Amino acid sequence: MPHTIVIFGASGDLTKRKLVPALYQLHRKGRLPEETRVVGFSRTEFSHDQWREALTESTEKFAGKKFERETWDEFAKSIYYHPGDIGNRDDFVTLSEFLDELEGKVESERVYYLSTAPRFYGPAAEMLGAVGLSMENNGPRRIVIEKPFGTDGESASKLNDVVHSVFNEQQVYRIDHYLGKETVQNLMILRFANSIFEPIWNRNYIDHVQITVAEEVDIGSRAGYYETSGIIRDMFQNHILQLLMITAMEAPIRYAADPVRDEKVKVLHAVRPMTEEMLTADTFRGQYDGYLNEKDVASDSQTATFAAMKLWIDNWRWQGVPFYLRSGKAMSCRTTQIVIQFREPPHMLFDSCKTRRCESNRLVIQVQPAEGIQMHFQTKVPDAGMRMRQTDLDFRYDREFHGVMPEAYERLLLDALEGDASLFARADEVEAAWAICDPILNHWATKSQPPVYTYERGFWGPMESTEWMRETGREWFDTC
Ligand code: BG6
Repeated sequence: MPHTIVIFGASGDLTKRKLVPALYQLHRKGRLPEETRVVGFSRTEFSHDQWREALTESTEKFAGKKFERETWDEFAKSIYYHPGDIGNRDDFVTLSEFLDELEGKVESERVYYLSTAPRFYGPAAEMLGAVGLSMENNGPRRIVIEKPFGTDGESASKLNDVVHSVFNEQQVYRIDHYLGKETVQNLMILRFANSIFEPIWNRNYIDHVQITVAEEVDIGSRAGYYETSGIIRDMFQNHILQLLMITAMEAPIRYAADPVRDEKVKVLHAVRPMTEEMLTADTFRGQYDGYLNEKDVASDSQTATFAAMKLWIDNWRWQGVPFYLRSGKAMSCRTTQIVIQFREPPHMLFDSCKTRRCESNRLVIQVQPAEGIQMHFQTKVPDAGMRMRQTDLDFRYDREFHGVMPEAYERLLLDALEGDASLFARADEVEAAWAICDPILNHWATKSQPPVYTYERGFWGPMESTEWMRETGREWFDTC
């Protein structure tokens, strides 16, 4: 059966930087289903050849060393363009005719990828429905929707309603590119394909969990978007809560889209709702020094470029175990890591740990960029009595698998083409994620706004965040 992926918002940045390079890599590796075609749709007037040329240039740039002229030329033959406006029904009618023609009027699988500005997600879905492009009488039809999915719970729920008026939930693939990362998927393998971690993965052994997504880059030229988004909408509602869900979920009954997502959603439902007191004490925001001088940023902007928070998960496994989450732009380095901090041994025999606190065991899951896992434990220092030191068992992807790390979009695009929704967010999942973020956003928007702490670029966020953690008797794991 032919496969077609139609990219709406084809002239945008994501198409050039991520989508087409990822599709090309899939082609190069021989992973795309036979007869896969890529059709671009956007307002810019391109001929097929003009679009191919533009993509040749951008893919060469963004695929870097993985670009091979010969395989690209072969792949480029399956790329087409159809100019059109999302608000214009006629353009969708001609698109429909064009797709039928292209596929030879046979049964086909189609993926409609919305990579447009978010305000067009609803209208695009409705227009696809209006001209019958969502109907599955001639093969499966799926819609992929980029982030952000709504700007709060209410808008996400409305968008879900609009999308569901055209597509049923099984046809809808809400993307969070963090789920396409190998190390994020490996978190499930680590937990559920090994028997040694699961027995200790709970309140009896774990003191707390830290999830850090630090970025070295600042907002660059994205102020227009960032001023309306801020760190909570940009990183927490999606990427960080995804990491939280996979770290905290129960084992699904099998690895398939709904069992996996059922367990993930349960985690979000178990997150303790924040009272005003908790919002004041347990959420924390910051802004990097110089943010207010960025182009298109209001001089009195309160937009957070850093946030930290403490969440509790009210279920048997996690009762009493705080989850500390933080993320920021312009921080000391780029690192995404999950730290499982184990409890101290119940009774310490050795004097060296009586006089000074010895660090307890820690499992560090490096999601990126130094993908790997380290287990930290105490070891006797040779020839030094019973003195000890923290050492580690260090697994690194690049050593073990020789640096073969695919782009997140490769896996996600392939899954969308093949109809596997395991790594995509479900309607109830995005709404439950907003239910956690909305109270924080509302609290921060109140008149008695909590302070926005300034931090110097190249630091681990505001000093106050370090103090805040220290007051709980714990330390952020500030290691790149
Ligand atoms: C995007 C955010 O979703 O994720 C960006 O909009 C952020 O602000 C990016 O920089 C981070 O993704 P990654 O894969 O580089 O960690």
